[in-house]
Amino acid sequence: MQLIDGKSVSEELRKNIQQDVSLWVASGGKKPHLCAILVGDDGASHTYVAAKIKDCEAIGFKSSLYQFASNVTEEKLIQTIEEINQNPDIDGLIVQLPLPKHISVDRVTQTIAPEKDVDGFHPQNVGRLSIGLPTYVSATPFGIIKLLEYYGIETAGKHCVVLGRSNIVGTPAAILMSRNVYPGNATVTICHSKTDNLEQYTLQADIIIAAIGIPEFLKADMVKPGAVVIDVGITRINDASKKSGFRLVGDVDYEAVAPLCSYITPVPGGVGPMTRIGLLTNTLKAARKEIYTNSK
Ligand code: GUN
Repeated sequence: MQLIDGKSVSEELRKNIQQDVSLWVASGGKKPHLCAILVGDDGASHTYVAAKIKDCEAIGFKSSLYQFASNVTEEKLIQTIEEINQNPDIDGLIVQLPLPKHISVDRVTQTIAPEKDVDGFHPQNVGRLSIGLPTYVSATPFGIIKLLEYYGIETAGKHCVVLGRSNIVGTPAAILMSRNVYPGNATVTICHSKTDNLEQYTLQADIIIAAIGIPEFLKADMVKPGAVVIDVGITRINDASKKSGFRLVGDVDYEAVAPLCSYITPVPGGVGPMTRIGLLTNTLKAARKEIYTNSK
């Protein structure tokens, strides 16, 4: 079994982006500028956005943050997004999810200008992904694909089972794995909460992408020996034996599943650190106007 070390791969890719941005700025390019919008006081969202801002500063990007109370109106949020869309200094915009229930995520997502949508959530960017046009690949599927590529894991002709069909992870990961490029060319099955006898699919899988949001869901008796297992889940579980009072677990029963695998991602330190690289990559692409201006 080989551990897929997302932490060290992300550090290497981070250095490459840092070099690219220095060269870009040294040759007269505009310093990439990411803007984040954060609504409410969800602890995890605050942590994630703080990490994104810190990443930008560390790599040589400009960043800005708009914060709103959880009772902000949808209109106010939409108006702010429209202003940011018009601001030529801002290259990329993300609105951290989840949003309070009174705000339509679909309306917010569709208001972000596609060329600034560095999360890759706008339907236009998802559509581009599905027909193989250059686009902003959203952060988590980006991280998964880059890890498969880094480790040279064979995907062509393999059966890839994706657990979960979310817009953010499962669906784009399935699209990427079926594209006619490497990593891709897999035969893809998407399993979800309504799938009957889910283990009949996972037992046939050469590659399993677990993004179902249920801690330790994938058990050893659901995995074929030699499979590649990519664990996207991350949940805090109370654990009195830890100084912090909790530990992080993925969607895979790691202790039992790992010995069966050819490759597996740990949690933490697998897909998680790679997602941060996805956002940085997209923000640099936005500043260089790589996706939309060069009329690809
Ligand atoms: N919430 C969880 N993941 C993400 C992400 O990738 N982008 C945004 N904007 N919100 C999230």
